[in-house]
Amino acid sequence: MIASLESRKRLGQVFTPDEVARTLVRWVVRRKTDRLLDPSCGDGRFLACHAASTGIEVDPGNAALARERVPGASIYRAEFFRWASSTSCRFEAAAGNPPFIRYQHFAGKTRQLALELAEKVGANINGLASSWASFLVVTAGLLKPGGRMAFVVPAEIGHAPYASPVLSFLCSRFQQVRIIAIREKLFPSLSEGAWLLFADGFGSPTDVIELSLLDRFASFTWTDQPTKRVAVSSWRDAGYRLRKFLLPENALVTYQSIASKPGVSRLGEVASTSIGYVSGANEFFHLRPSEVKRYRIPGDFLRIAIRRSRQLPADCVDRQTVKRWISQDEPVMLLDLTDAQELPSELISYLDSERGREVKKGYKCRNRDPWYAIPDVRVPDAFLSYMSGRKPVLVRNDAKCVCTNSVHAVFRKNGMSLRAIQRAWSHPLVDLSCELEGHPLGGGMLKLEPREASNILVPIDGPQFSPSELRILKEAAAEMRGWRNYG
Ligand SMILES: C[S@@+](CC[C@H](N)C(=O)[O-])C[C@H]1O[C@@H](n2cnc3c(N)ncnc32)[C@H](O)[C@@H]1O
Repeated sequence: MIASLESRKRLGQVFTPDEVARTLVRWVVRRKTDRLLDPSCGDGRFLACHAASTGIEVDPGNAALARERVPGASIYRAEFFRWASSTSCRFEAAAGNPPFIRYQHFAGKTRQLALELAEKVGANINGLASSWASFLVVTAGLLKPGGRMAFVVPAEIGHAPYASPVLSFLCSRFQQVRIIAIREKLFPSLSEGAWLLFADGFGSPTDVIELSLLDRFASFTWTDQPTKRVAVSSWRDAGYRLRKFLLPENALVTYQSIASKPGVSRLGEVASTSIGYVSGANEFFHLRPSEVKRYRIPGDFLRIAIRRSRQLPADCVDRQTVKRWISQDEPVMLLDLTDAQELPSELISYLDSERGREVKKGYKCRNRDPWYAIPDVRVPDAFLSYMSGRKPVLVRNDAKCVCTNSVHAVFRKNGMSLRAIQRAWSHPLVDLSCELEGHPLGGGMLKLEPREASNILVPIDGPQFSPSELRILKEAAAEMRGWRNYG
């Protein structure tokens, strides 16, 4: 039986190429008698690579396929965390491709049990973690001393804050921890990249994370030398971002030494970055000039808004820009009723229209009082695009516009000149810093959260750079764009 697309997504059902499954099993199985566990075995392709194997699978259709494919294996049609909480089986080896289910969907009793079991094993996985994190930790807890495991993991193990307790846990419990970063997508149908994890010697700690960098998947043996050995302390100093170590050594050293150069600041020291407002019903709260006329809405209740980064010009939003939007009848006029004392009858009619009554029932609106007053409508000094192709843009706000959460709002600190920050923004150091402090979003895009934006290095006070530093910065930025499959 083929599961529906929705149920495949819900259960994180993406199947691993046979060659990858064979390789991961080869990394972890040393003897014929080794018992192998796949905690989310799907149709049994990892189990098929070794005779003494056990698979757990929650989906009845997949469990049946696995039984058919590997009749000699022990296959349990069960939810893994429930099974793990009661089993007394222990394994020499584990391998697989755990479901990558984001925390919003990895919910309820399963998540609660997963987090409890992970804590018992010794890892504090937070509630925002994707499901694979608990799968790895709880599986590790089922290994015999000296045991090994190899898993497909999302590339966000290299940057996601929720992934750092997983890596810390692995280093505290395994003698060898290796991450294999792969530039070319293992799963072309997924927008996110996937890497591999290998951990050996359960029961003893390591203070090094080995990192192998590959352009594409290759079935090397686990004894091959890694490209780099990253001290756990360096990983911690790098903000728990393994992604930074994708850089060639000289570029990383250059970047780190530039961070302490006089005249170089973090964006967070000269400006604060936050998300824009969330209206709860953008189409209703943003009107076109022609609609403003039709509903006779007084100008005092309207603000000009940036609703998407596509709207941003290259350098500055000024009166000319706004004039153009108005003449093109763009839906950029925000109904801002936060400070409204008395509402004119025209506005009351608009809010009380059929559409208004519908909008009022929406989640955001019904949870605020009054339902039409949008909080956090502020006029920032600049806008920062947070999902970008080549590089995020920083655009001055001379026209005193406001912005939705589709772009970031930037407020300068301590009288810092916005033009000076903008000048610095065009420097190759910022290009590289956006790559290292931001993170890939899939599809070649780069995403910058406010906390990541505040870490960006900006050469504000005219620091000097040697030609070789500039060359290294440019090459390194291009290298990192390659790692997120840009262009
Ligand atoms: C990414 S697929 C991998 C399947 C297989 N290991 C492979 O790589 O081809 C993840 C599998 O985990 C199963 N799954 C999801 N949640 C589970 C859970 N809580 N317990 C056991 N299996 C689960 C899904 O049905 C799916 O078959």
